[in-house]
Order: sequence, then structure tokens, then C-alpha cells
Amino acid sequence: MTTQMVEKTPENKPIATITVRPDGVAVVTLDDPNAELNTITRTFGEELRAAIEKIERDDEVKAAVIASGKKGSFVVGANIDMLKAVTRAAEIEELSREFALALKRLNDKKPFVAAVDGAALGGGFELALGCKAIVATDDKKTVFGLPEVQLGLLPAANGMMRIAQRTGLQVALDLSLTGKNTRAAKAKKMGLVDEVCPQEVLLDVAAKLALDLADGRGPKKKALKLDAATLTRIALEKNPAGRALLFKKAREATRKKTRGHYPATEKIIDVIETFGSKGFDAAAKLEAASFGELVMSDTARELIHIFFATQALKKDKGTDAPNVQAKKVEHVSMLGGGLMGGGIAYITIHARIPVRLKDKDDEGAGRGLKYVRDILDERVKKKQLTAVERDQEFAKLTATTDYSGVKNADVVIEAVFEDLDLKHRVVREVEAVMKDDAIFASNTSSIPITKIAAASKRPENVVGMHYFSPVHKMPLLEVIQTKKTAPQVVATAVALGKKQGKTCIVVNDGVGFYTSRILGPYMNEAAYLIAEGVPADMIDRALVDWGFPVGPVALLDEVGIDVAAHVGPIMLAEFGERMTPPGSTAKLIADGRKGRKNGKGFYLYGDAAKKGKKQIDPSVYEILDVKPTNTKVSVDEIQQRCVLQMVNEALHCYGERIVRSPRDADIGAIFGLGFPPFRGGPLRWVDSVGAAEIVRRIQGYEDRFGKRWTPAPALVEKARENGRFYAR
Ligand code: NAI
Repeated sequence: MTTQMVEKTPENKPIATITVRPDGVAVVTLDDPNAELNTITRTFGEELRAAIEKIERDDEVKAAVIASGKKGSFVVGANIDMLKAVTRAAEIEELSREFALALKRLNDKKPFVAAVDGAALGGGFELALGCKAIVATDDKKTVFGLPEVQLGLLPAANGMMRIAQRTGLQVALDLSLTGKNTRAAKAKKMGLVDEVCPQEVLLDVAAKLALDLADGRGPKKKALKLDAATLTRIALEKNPAGRALLFKKAREATRKKTRGHYPATEKIIDVIETFGSKGFDAAAKLEAASFGELVMSDTARELIHIFFATQALKKDKGTDAPNVQAKKVEHVSMLGGGLMGGGIAYITIHARIPVRLKDKDDEGAGRGLKYVRDILDERVKKKQLTAVERDQEFAKLTATTDYSGVKNADVVIEAVFEDLDLKHRVVREVEAVMKDDAIFASNTSSIPITKIAAASKRPENVVGMHYFSPVHKMPLLEVIQTKKTAPQVVATAVALGKKQGKTCIVVNDGVGFYTSRILGPYMNEAAYLIAEGVPADMIDRALVDWGFPVGPVALLDEVGIDVAAHVGPIMLAEFGERMTPPGSTAKLIADGRKGRKNGKGFYLYGDAAKKGKKQIDPSVYEILDVKPTNTKVSVDEIQQRCVLQMVNEALHCYGERIVRSPRDADIGAIFGLGFPPFRGGPLRWVDSVGAAEIVRRIQGYEDRFGKRWTPAPALVEKARENGRFYAR
């Protein structure tokens, strides 16, 4: 075998190495010497092009295979640092065009086969698609996806068109608009991948296929199954009227989701539609120009910022105390197997940590087990797990009605009823049996951790771990430290949260912590609007239009009107006038309305609800004694009043150091409450509008409505110094 170096990186090691096998197949191994993963940079593109040229010139080489030198990872897409550093649209447009051109000539002289083991994402997937054929390993890590849309971008190396060529326009739309990953077996079924094989034989299988291709024998193509779905697809995609309908529907569905806030989605549809009607080159041209525009857009800037913020949080231990190491967590004990306890137990066993669940009676314990089992069964149904894997995972969970097993736990998490006396009792009972150095974590949603820790003999080991419902779907974990919580306890809670797949922010203790606290005045303002006669569904629509996934009234039904009624007075007592409610909650509670949980809230549930569309229960207005006919309040005012309340409270939290940084304030609001990601979070939004302008808006409402509208000191200060929360 001969090994030749292609171009050198500044560090003197190449990214692309060519090895020629005795069978005449050249293997291009991609292995960026300066990074853990292969990403696409200018040098990457240049070296790839040089490798292609070298292979074209080498008469000994009949065909080529492109593989990765990174174990379990192929190429994960464009280098995002590079994208962030770009200052002109033309610059990035040129870069993407060059990479696309390199891929376009890949198979001009000799066939290239991609040998994919691990993630082939974004430009990495497009590189594989540029090859004549793709061979993938059957490993779970081997996935294909185009995540660009999640950063406000589009795939810019012709991958969308190549997917359309291989599998049709609809699949191209679906993969590019969702950014979702597809595993190898499914990708093969869809026609994206040609062969799937075990890791050990990947290169041999790919080399054999490359040689076959060089000899004019292609990969075995399965005969097209002419089932109803395929026939419909062909009928739609192969004629102009059908295509027009397909794209009209895609546009409508996308708009409904994005409300026009994510321009990348529209551009993706434009490019694929152009491909359908005008062909590859016209689409490629539009794609490159759109990419340049999108990279420079505000939306991409905010989404890329969030990407970096979450990356930084992955590395953050959650404490600035020096030399702190998280303790190893090998056993978790879960107290309470309700909605939250079941969810937390599931994400813990999923992180391969055994859990002993304790509930007060057999019924509770059984409910907890069933909750976990149902999630696992659902995953089997979706083919994310095999039945054997499910059983292995489920075996990590045991349930009891006493404290047996607690002595083994490194962390005990409680999610019993929201009742301080009960929580105190539980702390005392558990501390009598648990290890001295084990951590006691509470998932309380509203009781300050300091109050819970008052019953503890070891308050330094007490911490809050505030999960969100449904636990296995919501991405945030709010870790709450009291003045006494030891830094190592915080670091351990954060490390456990990360293992459970959560993005963790650490906040200081206080009523409502961070997320519930900023949610309070936001919902309160919605209640004021309703009291003024603004229709509740109009409020929800306004906030969804602003970019929230659900409006505040629907959210109140979800969270529980009883929960809000419980927390409201506590917030009022703690923070004073600005939390004053309009007094409507008491009337709703008196009417027995708790929200979705008892099928009685602002919206109709069960039989009373029409399928598909959420409808307000008209009787709610009678209870509140208002006529929902006030249409004088504009959509803009509804949005501003609710959002500014949340933002102002976030700034109180920032000023009082409840949050550690603007980053945590923004990530908490986005991941915990659905603050629109494309706006970057409450503090970044203030930066983009300008602190002085936000103060002006808040003071405008202060003039109209009085004290609940006083701007937060941290905001006033920022406005005075004409400053920003983030450097540009
Ligand atoms: P839930 O009522 O569904 O579950 C509570 C469970 O605790 C029940 O299974 C009950 O039998 C069990 N339990 C009661 N006393 C116990 C004891 N002495 N030992 C062991 N188990 C006992 O309540 P949910 O919704 O799961 O809430 C639990 C905690 O999580 C509360 O503190 C709540 O504030 C908090 N939380 C709730 C959220 C939600 O959206 N539901 C969100 C975040 C936090």
C-alpha cells in the first residue's frame, strides 16, 4: 500500500490522506488533526479537492472511497466558528459554491463511494450524497441529517437536490425542513443509502462497490414498490400541477409552524421547487445565493448564538468555585412516582443509572413503573429501541413503598406532593437512612429550597433540581443552590442533569427561582388583558404569532390554574405590587376550574371540545364577569405587554443575581418557557431593540397602569449607560 499526503494544514498534518489498496481503490481518509470531529472549513474543502485531482491523475487508481479517520463519526457539517466569523455574504457564498463544485466533479473521471460510520450531518451528508454510492455501518451512531435549518440556514452543497434525485421531492423537503436524523437502515429503505454493513467490513464493502461501479456495474437497485403512497408521490412530483400543489401545501404547513419567523424554511422550499421545475443548476445557483443571505440574517445570528451558548453550557460545571469535581452518581433514589417522579426515573435509567423508586403506597409505585414502561413501549413502537433493549433499560428500575435501597443512593430526588410539611417529613425520614454524603435534591416547583433544607441535618447537601413537564421531552433543568449548598453538590446535580440529556442552568434560590418567576408576571398580564375584555384566544394567537409555541392562557390551563392560584400570593408577598393579580384566579378556582388536568379551564376539553381546534369555553367569561368584546387593544399591545412583563422580571432576576449570566437567563427562558429562539432570549432581545427603547415602552405602560410596570433597576442602568448585555 502507498500512503501519500495531500496538502498540509498549518500544523503540518493533512486532513485528507490517500491510501491506495492493492485492489486499486484509493481510500481518502478525512481526519482533521486539530479537532475532535471533522467539520468543513476552507482547508477541508481545498484538501478534498486536491485529493480528488490526485486520484483522477493516478492511473493505478480505478475508483475511490471516502472515509473518516474519526472513530464513530464521519463529517458533522460546516464549521460553525467559521460561519460566525463571516462578515460578508459574498464571502460565504463563494466558500459554499467552491465546496459544492468540488462535490460536483467527484465522479467525473472515477467513481467515489462514501464509507460512512457515525454521523454524516449537513455538509458531511452532502459530501456522501455527492459520491456515486453510499455504504453505511449498521451502528446506532450512524445517522444522516441536514440540521442547517435549526441554525437558520440551508444545506448549501446541493444535498437537497441530490436527495430529491434519489428519493423524490417530498423526502428532500421533509429532511431539509425538519433537520431530523435518519438511521442507516431507514436511510437504505428510503433509497438514500445503497448498502448497510457491519463496521469491520465497511471499507471492503465500499471498495468492492467502487470497483463494481468502475466496471459499469451499479449497486443493486431494488425494484420500485408501486404501492399507493409511491404512486401518489410519482403522480404529484412528476407533473407541474401536482408539483405546484405539493409546494403550496409545504408552504402552508411551514408558515403555520414558523409564522414567517424562520426565513430559511422558505428558502429551502424555493430551492427544492426550483430544482423540480428548472433543474439542478438553477437550484444550485439559488441555493448558494440564499445561503449567503441567510448566514448574515438576524435569525441565523441568534440561532447560532444559542448553539454556542448550549455548547458552552455543556462544558460548564455550574459553579465558579475552583477545583470542584462532580461526584460519581451510580445509584439514584426517586421519591414519588407521579407525573414528575415517573419522568425523572425514566431519564435516569435511560442514562444507564439504576433507580429505586419509592412511593407512599402500591398504587403510586405501580403508577410510577407504568409511566416509565409506557415511554419505553412507545420507543419500541417507534423503532428507537428493540424489545431486548427496552427490557434491559426497564430492569434498571425497581419500586418499593419503603426506604429500602435508599442507603445505596448517591442522589435522592424527591417529587412528592407540593406540601412543605410533607417535604420536611420526607427529608427527615430519608436522612435517617441515606449515606451521609448523599445529595438530597428537590423537584419542587415553588417552595424555596432554603425552606426545604431547614429540616435537613446536612443543608450543604440539599439542592433543587427543577425539571419541566413532560420530563422526557422538555430540554431544561434548573438547578437551584441555596447559600449553604456545597459547590460539589451543585456540580454533581449539573453533571447528573447533563447525563440525563438536559441543558442545565444554575440559579440562586428565591421564590419562583428563575423560570417560574418570569412566567408569573407574563401570565398575570394576560389575566389583566382578559379582565379588560380582550378575548382569551386572541391573546394566545398574538403570542404564538410573536413566536411562542403556545399562548399564556393555554399555558395556564396546562400548568394548572390551581398551581397559579397557589403560587400567585407567594410571589405577591415576596415581590410586592408588580405581582398584583387582577383577582380573576380566585373566581376560577371557586368554579372548580383547574385547567387541563380536570378538563375544566379556559379551553374546552373532552367531549365538549371539537376535534382539531382548541376552543375557549364561553362560560369562563361569565365566571369572570367580563364581555370578551374588547378589540380596541391591538395585537402589538397584547404582545408587548405580556413579553415586556417577562423581560422586565428576567432583568430583576439578572440584577439580583438569581441567574449567573445573561446566557443562562436567555437559555432558561427559551428552553424552559419557549421564549422565541430566533429572538435570542429576553436579554438578547433587549440588546437588539435597545435598552433605552425598552425602558420607554415600559414607562409608557407605567403611565397607563401604574406600579406593576416599573422598569427593573438593571434595565434602567443599562439604558443610562447605553450599554448591552452581550458584546456584539
Ligand atoms: P403527582 O401528584 O403526580 O405525584 C406525586 C407523587 O408523590 C404521587 O405518586 C404520590 O403518591 C407520591 N407521594 C406522596 N407522598 C409521598 C411520600 N411520603 N413518599 C413517596 N411518595 C409520595 O405530582 P407531580 O406533578 O409529579 O409533582 C411532584 C412535585 O414536582 C411537586 O413538588 C411539584 O410541585 C413538582 N413539579 C411539578 C411539575 C408539573 O408540571 N407537574 C413541574 C415541576 C415540578
